Amino acid sequence: MIVNLEDYRRRARRVLPAFAFDYVDGGADDEQTLADNRAAFARWQFVAPVLKDASVRSLAVRLGDTVLAAPLLIAPTGYNGMLRHGADRMLARAAARAGIAWIQSTVSTASLEDMADGGGGAHWFQLYVLKDRRVTVDLLRRARAAGCTNLVVSVDAVHFGNRERDKRYYRKPMKLSLASYLNVARHPGWVLRTLAPGGMPGFGNLRPYLPPQYQRGVGGATYFAQQMDDALNWQTLAWIRSLWRGQLYVKGIMAVEDAQAAMALGADGLMLSNHGGRQLDGSASPLALLPAVRQACGPQARILIDGGIRRGTDIIKALALGANAVLVGRPMLYAAAVDGEAGVARAISVLTQEIDRTLAQLGCRSLAELGPHLLRRRDT
Ligand SMILES: Cc1cc2nc3c(=O)[nH]c(=O)nc-3n(C[C@H](O)[C@H](O)[C@H](O)COP(=O)(O)O)c2cc1C
Repeated sequence: MIVNLEDYRRRARRVLPAFAFDYVDGGADDEQTLADNRAAFARWQFVAPVLKDASVRSLAVRLGDTVLAAPLLIAPTGYNGMLRHGADRMLARAAARAGIAWIQSTVSTASLEDMADGGGGAHWFQLYVLKDRRVTVDLLRRARAAGCTNLVVSVDAVHFGNRERDKRYYRKPMKLSLASYLNVARHPGWVLRTLAPGGMPGFGNLRPYLPPQYQRGVGGATYFAQQMDDALNWQTLAWIRSLWRGQLYVKGIMAVEDAQAAMALGADGLMLSNHGGRQLDGSASPLALLPAVRQACGPQARILIDGGIRRGTDIIKALALGANAVLVGRPMLYAAAVDGEAGVARAISVLTQEIDRTLAQLGCRSLAELGPHLLRRRDT
């Protein structure tokens, strides 16, 4: 039975081959940051006021010109097609039906053009910057043509994290070991749902830029790893800002000074993120940094966070400490792997019910009433 998001993780572990589950579930090095992203939420406790009429409540939130039915976005994640054929569309459609946003990754399986209807809702695009500037110019053109109004520029994956779980399944880059193939053979349901409809998933957005030898299957990953712009800097961000007229978020900011610099450069919002613990192990959790970033950037700045958010109470804590909304990554992928679009819809519904219940228990009618006065730090 699915009661909470952890149930989807447990089921996903069963239905996915080990290499695919660990691709999603894993973090960098010793996974200290992965664990700390979760632990950070337990460091805060609620102090709930009573006898306040919160019988009528709204979860809606405005982010610039976008109104979301709940303060929740599905984080951009690459290569979703490895979890289930058509996973990008399932995520987009479930988000649209719930009135929240899904962010399409540069390294999504579906292309921007495949997703031009946004699954029926708002279409956001996450940009990784490649060395060849023409690729960035072209991706932004395609995003605009596909109707994207919000751009998310990820700045924290320039040097790839050391994801050791992944390494154990491959005998050489992108070549699974014999043991991994045998493990795949024990998951015929996954083969049917994922590979049978269209073969090995690829990278829809990169296809026009891939040299012929990288066109097939996962070849795009090799090309992409070589082509990431490892000289990315503030001038590059200013250049992207000058090219993009719509809303622009910078994802992967952690330091207060960087948050201020990004806003000064003309960003419309920030996404505090350590990439779900997949990049720099030992990195602080976004939740821990949030109060200082909010104070430095002021009440008007749009600040989103992600990493380890698994419960409505986590989301309410983030909002009380200054976030406007949050992104959720892995749980949505587990839900898609287990039960497709219906699974993602259920995962969103579980989270929104939890947000609503927490709001009621704190005596708040709207998200605007949340603040640090509702929290205290746990005694250690
Ligand atoms: C499998 C996977 C793929 C990801 N791919 C991307 C990506 O393509 N672009 C990006 O900006 N972030 C990517 N991320 C990071 C997420 O956007 C997000 O920051 C992170 O998953 C949030 O943490 P959570 O999974 O604990 O909710 C990925 C994360 C996972 C788990």
